[in-house]
Amino acid sequence: MALELRTARVAGIGMYAPERILTNQDLEVLVETTDDWIVSRTGIRERRIAAADEATSDLALPAAREALRTAGVDPADLDLIVLATCTGDMGTFPATATIVQAELGARRAAAFDVAAVCSGFTFALDIGAQFIETGRANNVLVIGAETLSKVVDWTDRNTCVLFGDGAGAAVLQPCPPGEGLLGSVLGTDGSGACLLNIPGGGSRLPLTPDAISEGQGFIKMKGREVFRFAVEIMGEAAVQALTKVGLTPADVDLFVPHQANVRIIDAAMQRLKLPPEKVYVNVDRYGNTSAASVPMALYEAWKQGKVRPGDIVVTVGFGAGLTWGANVIKWGDLLP
Ligand code: ACO
Repeated sequence: MALELRTARVAGIGMYAPERILTNQDLEVLVETTDDWIVSRTGIRERRIAAADEATSDLALPAAREALRTAGVDPADLDLIVLATCTGDMGTFPATATIVQAELGARRAAAFDVAAVCSGFTFALDIGAQFIETGRANNVLVIGAETLSKVVDWTDRNTCVLFGDGAGAAVLQPCPPGEGLLGSVLGTDGSGACLLNIPGGGSRLPLTPDAISEGQGFIKMKGREVFRFAVEIMGEAAVQALTKVGLTPADVDLFVPHQANVRIIDAAMQRLKLPPEKVYVNVDRYGNTSAASVPMALYEAWKQGKVRPGDIVVTVGFGAGLTWGANVIKWGDLLP
């Protein structure tokens, strides 16, 4: 296939969620909150929590294996693994993608992580697709995997009710232009880095005993500001990505937004004038799983037959940074 005549299609998809379910009622025991508050402000009813000995790569692996199975691809044939996470197995290095590479036996694959937090999967998908488009790779594994429960302050009701753990993955392969990933937009406004972060654990504030006791290793968030940004960017990023490939919201068969808050998703639905049946929502069952949320939602939608060959699927991620990303995909055939 001539290089200028290839783009990337989603050839396989997978997800994994840890077994343990933490309900809003369970949280009522931990912090001063109520099921009613959490459901009315976020739409979240429960989330999955990784076991003490379960790291991010342990969640990524079953998701990756399912994606490889549905693509009919042997790990030994992978050229590249791109893993999006903000909760890697080890604090600084190596990249979690390298651990996944070894466990899968993907000997030929280069592997690295992408740090775009909740936008991570939309970034990783675009990066992986470009390796395919330029002919540098024929089989790319893209993963979004997180164990946010490990960096949440379980005494902070402002944040601990929001997040959950999980992983999603996709295999990308070449296809003719006009199919697969039609286009993406990625964006950043670094002036908002102060709105959502984990201050400690990096070179600015190493995790000294003092920093640990001050809780600097946990998520800090200015929720209202992030909410305002998210409501604006979710619909805007989708429109920008669609416009780039000559489509409009009316062409969308399925919208797969980052699952942070059902009110943010509702605002985007209104902006895009999409009916509920064209929007996939599972934030009620998983909470905000950051980089894992879009591929987990995509996998469930595909499993439930809500996305079929030829459909136009739009994904949107947004998150800390601030960052945002949107992908427009013409869906193809996958193994059942
Ligand atoms: N239970 C009960 N009360 C609570 C809770 C809770 N769990 N959390 C906060 N409150 C209180 C607050 O203390 C506040 O009380 P006060 O008025 O006495 O100070 C009150 O509820 C209202 O707080 P608001 O911030 O106005 O609530 P809001 O309607 O904005 O909802 C929320 C808060 C859900 C956090 C919302 O702002 C939001 O979803 N923001 C976006 C968060 C997000 O998407 N973050 C992830 C980005 S992705 C990433 O990169 C990780």
